[in-house]
Amino acid sequence: MKTRACTRREFSVIFLFLAVAALIFGLRNMEVLEQFQHKIHSTTNVTNISTDPDVNHSFCTFQPLSGEDALEERLLLDSIAWPENPPLPAPVSLEQTSDPAHSTFTILPRRGGGQWHVGDQLEVMIEMSDFHGRPKKYGGDFLLARLHNLKLVAGVAGQVVDHLNGSYSAVFSLPWEGDAQVKVMLVHPNEAITVLNRINREQPDRVFFKSLFRSGSLSETTICDICLRPTQQPLCNFTDRHTGDPWFCYKPKNLSCNARINHFTGGVNYIIKGNETKLFQSRVNLKVEIRASGPASITVLPKQKDQPQLKSSIVTSGPSGYYYQGTWRSLNGPTVRQFNISDISPCLKGKVVHMYGDSTVRQFFEYLNAVLPDLKEFNLHSPKRAGPYMALDYANNIRVTYRFHGPPLRIVTVPTRELRYIANEIDGLIGGTNTVVLFCVWAHFGPYPMELYIRRLQSIRRAVVQLLDRAPGTVVIIRTGNPQGLTLNFAQTKSDWFSLRFSKVLRLMFKGLNVHLIDAWEMVLAHYLPHMLHPQPPIIKNMMNVILSYVCPAKGN
Ligand SMILES: *[C@@H]1O[C@H](CO)[C@@H](O)[C@H](O)[C@H]1NC(C)=O
Ligand SMILES: *[C@@H]1O[C@H](CO)[C@@H](O)[C@H](O)[C@H]1NC(C)=O
Ligand SMILES: *[C@@H]1O[C@H](CO)[C@@H](O)[C@H](O)[C@H]1NC(C)=O
Ligand SMILES: *[C@@H]1O[C@H](CO)[C@@H](O)[C@H](O)[C@H]1NC(C)=O
Ligand SMILES: *[C@@H]1O[C@H](CO)[C@@H](O)[C@H](O)[C@H]1NC(C)=O
Ligand SMILES: *[C@@H]1O[C@H](CO)[C@@H](O)[C@H](O)[C@H]1NC(C)=O
Ligand SMILES: *[C@@H]1O[C@H](CO)[C@@H](O)[C@H](O)[C@H]1NC(C)=O
Ligand SMILES: *[C@@H]1O[C@H](CO)[C@@H](O)[C@H](O)[C@H]1NC(C)=O
Repeated sequence: MKTRACTRREFSVIFLFLAVAALIFGLRNMEVLEQFQHKIHSTTNVTNISTDPDVNHSFCTFQPLSGEDALEERLLLDSIAWPENPPLPAPVSLEQTSDPAHSTFTILPRRGGGQWHVGDQLEVMIEMSDFHGRPKKYGGDFLLARLHNLKLVAGVAGQVVDHLNGSYSAVFSLPWEGDAQVKVMLVHPNEAITVLNRINREQPDRVFFKSLFRSGSLSETTICDICLRPTQQPLCNFTDRHTGDPWFCYKPKNLSCNARINHFTGGVNYIIKGNETKLFQSRVNLKVEIRASGPASITVLPKQKDQPQLKSSIVTSGPSGYYYQGTWRSLNGPTVRQFNISDISPCLKGKVVHMYGDSTVRQFFEYLNAVLPDLKEFNLHSPKRAGPYMALDYANNIRVTYRFHGPPLRIVTVPTRELRYIANEIDGLIGGTNTVVLFCVWAHFGPYPMELYIRRLQSIRRAVVQLLDRAPGTVVIIRTGNPQGLTLNFAQTKSDWFSLRFSKVLRLMFKGLNVHLIDAWEMVLAHYLPHMLHPQPPIIKNMMNVILSYVCPAKGN
């Protein structure tokens, strides 16, 4: 107990530091940014990456927030500010953007000499260059780094620090003994992120939705979204009265707004066209590995007794865990227990587990349903892959439910009566020590301004705070987003860049509450399996062990 409280305090300090650092980082960027704007204007002539003028970006605005929420929103937006070098509309050619094939990383020698030991930190310098092999002079590329050992099935996520001058550091904790190989990947060059940022402001309606309205023999389908472009057509306002979450449809001509009966995905307008597509090329500059200039691996010796561990000065926090022999070990939470199939039912006996969110939380429902012999899915006649779902184990009195989150939601046709916001669902729970609430919100929010996500989490958090207030024993677990496989099209709605920011915002917003996180971001990043929207079974099994360890902690935790 004592160590845990201490850890939490330490984390608050770290988070505060990070928030301040991010702010300073943001301010510093702006200066650097202006300097580079001049430089680039004077030294380059080539085509503009930006082809669309920044028009009509304000058609998607949100209701003003109350004082405290508005302040939080501003601080959160500042904390995820991304270096925007060069700012639009600076002219840049593809040749001047980062090219993984011309970029390298170098393992830095251990400061103070000697060999690395378990508990030390390893620093790697990453130098980005453009397609002509010229070193980049500004930052803002999105890089991911991981350290791994295939034989030991060990892996840990690295932390990347942007020096804003074309070089980056990756810092790794060294939790295991033996070989450790460094992997660095360019997810997006800076200029691609500028494009993603722009399309979220200008075209948050590029994924569009529809609803069928029907009354008697009359029926009509109209377009629906978070924000609809103003036309002559009147709107139906389906904004949730309780949570304030916005939703609109164009009003059908001959039917009332009340006649809306279902919701489905209309389609996606992929809007990155022409030269800008060159910024999102698989095997060129979209999730491509960067090679080492020298050795790519080191050997880590056993922990040294009575020797100070070597800690990097450029990062202040560490990873949340690591894989060793294929199992996830937590570095900042309770010990992760390994649950055999036969251990799961005794852990969940007498409990109700409510899962809310997207298909990445649905994976946990599917997992339990598949492995627990006495847990039987009850047929609710729900659309395939949509839910809602319910599974019951009569003998052990276990109930597991899954329900998708409210719109925006890319989904097969579902009745509007099944559209529920997580906050409202949580408000309907009694809670208590036998209640587990597990949710995630991320994958469907990519195309929208961050304000939408912040507001969604604010309403969910209000409901969670009230739940924990009326029933303090309730176990609340939140799954973060994770990196996934990207193509030009996927990147426009589901880029890892969106998911990274959601994970950061989520962490900050639930900090200090008695809720638990599944760090899906690191659990996918640290694993050797490829990044996928729906992580593969070995990763899901590890996540399930983390979840169950929160529900049934090891004795002495
Ligand atoms: C820039 O423009 C000049 C002349 O307009 C041309 O000779 C040169 O090749 C261009 N540079 C690049 C990198 O396209
Ligand atoms: C690039 O953008 C700037 C500012 O919008 C514009 O003045 C210039 O003509 C553009 N250049 C090209 C080659 O399109
Ligand atoms: C911008 O909005 C106006 C009306 O609000 C519309 O006439 C115009 O076509 C829009 N432009 C674009 C590029 O969407
Ligand atoms: C970039 O900045 C870092 C940190 O200040 C420094 O170590 C590195 O040498 C710089 N790189 C270049 C190319 O100036
Ligand atoms: C939609 O309804 C909500 C509350 O029900 C209201 O606050 C909001 O102003 C309405 N929006 C529009 C565009 O009418
Ligand atoms: C609405 O009703 C009018 C008159 O009954 C009819 O002419 C029109 O086609 C209908 N429109 C739609 C979209 O159903
Ligand atoms: C793409 O770049 C080429 C030259 O690099 C230019 O001729 C062409 O107009 C550009 N296309 C678009 C859509 O910007
Ligand atoms: C889990 O099952 C395996 C074999 O099925 C067994 O060797 C192991 O001891 C079990 N672990 C626990 C914690 O019960």
